[in-house]
Amino acid sequence: MTQILRTIPELQDALAAAVEHAEASTPTVGFVPTMGALHSGHGELLRAARESADIAVASVFVNPLQFDDASDYLHYPRQLEADAVLLEEHGVDLVFAPSLDEMYPGEVEGSDAPDPQVRVSVGDMGRMWEGASRAGHFDGVATAVAKLLSIVAAPLGRRTVLQAWFGEKDAEQLAIIRRLAADLNLPAEIRAVPIVRDENGLALSSRNQRLTPEHYQSALSLSGALRALAEDARRGRPLNIPLQSAHVRSAGADLDYLVVVDPATLKELDLSEVAPLRHEALTLIAARVGPVRLIDTMRIGPTV
Ligand code: PAJ
Repeated sequence: MTQILRTIPELQDALAAAVEHAEASTPTVGFVPTMGALHSGHGELLRAARESADIAVASVFVNPLQFDDASDYLHYPRQLEADAVLLEEHGVDLVFAPSLDEMYPGEVEGSDAPDPQVRVSVGDMGRMWEGASRAGHFDGVATAVAKLLSIVAAPLGRRTVLQAWFGEKDAEQLAIIRRLAADLNLPAEIRAVPIVRDENGLALSSRNQRLTPEHYQSALSLSGALRALAEDARRGRPLNIPLQSAHVRSAGADLDYLVVVDPATLKELDLSEVAPLRHEALTLIAARVGPVRLIDTMRIGPTV
């Protein structure tokens, strides 16, 4: 039976009880932070967490600090009842679904915007690609994830291992969260699952709900471009970024960036020096399609 907990003390009491009653003497807790509107991409994280942990925990919280666009925050789908069904199906034990005030007590005077005085600040990595286009986005993600990991870790004993699961879909976010955990000594092992796509190759995203059938066709051009680049890399051909960018634009998507980067540093590779690609690299793409901003990523290389 999945339990939904609305406050930090409720969650921590339930977690402490679950650890106490676990059969294993050193139980493992698998934690999946989400913003809800769950789909099978999240499902893969839940499955992985459930499989490798004794106690499976998820959170559902639409984090205002990571939205640079008020309308995106306002329109972000919120559907806890439907989410609860998927969480139950995946055998999640505890779901933390806090209110805005529970996560960020206090407001900016004269508004209902949260006003935490201390936040996590991400360095250069937080200002690349998505970070360059969405000011403060990764600071907001890092602040929420640091809080969530602290909240979940607090009631666990020293011998309880906390594994936190993230998707490769958000490649920059994953790289930054790995650094967050290392740099702030957060007591969690960061684990990742591969990107999940629909039958036409579109990366699953909660924002896909807002695509009309026409937008959906345009959105397919993002993964199409990444697949073409992956194929070039596999065949040892030079990567033609301008050509693929043109395809995306002509499909009606408003392209922000299409780049090939080093997977660890996220720095752009100089393709004139590496063509044909000799090592594994990561492609990153972002585009606005109708009302939504979509991102996608793919590992590419001679043997991928
Ligand atoms: P959200 O977009 O809900 O995603 C939650 C987790 O699901 C993230 O780790 C994301 O990478 C993963 N995910 C989403 N779509 C996926 C797909 N198609 N394949 C594989 N994994 C996928 O990411 C966030 O929420 C927030 O930034 C959060 C980490 C919860 C902090 O607020």
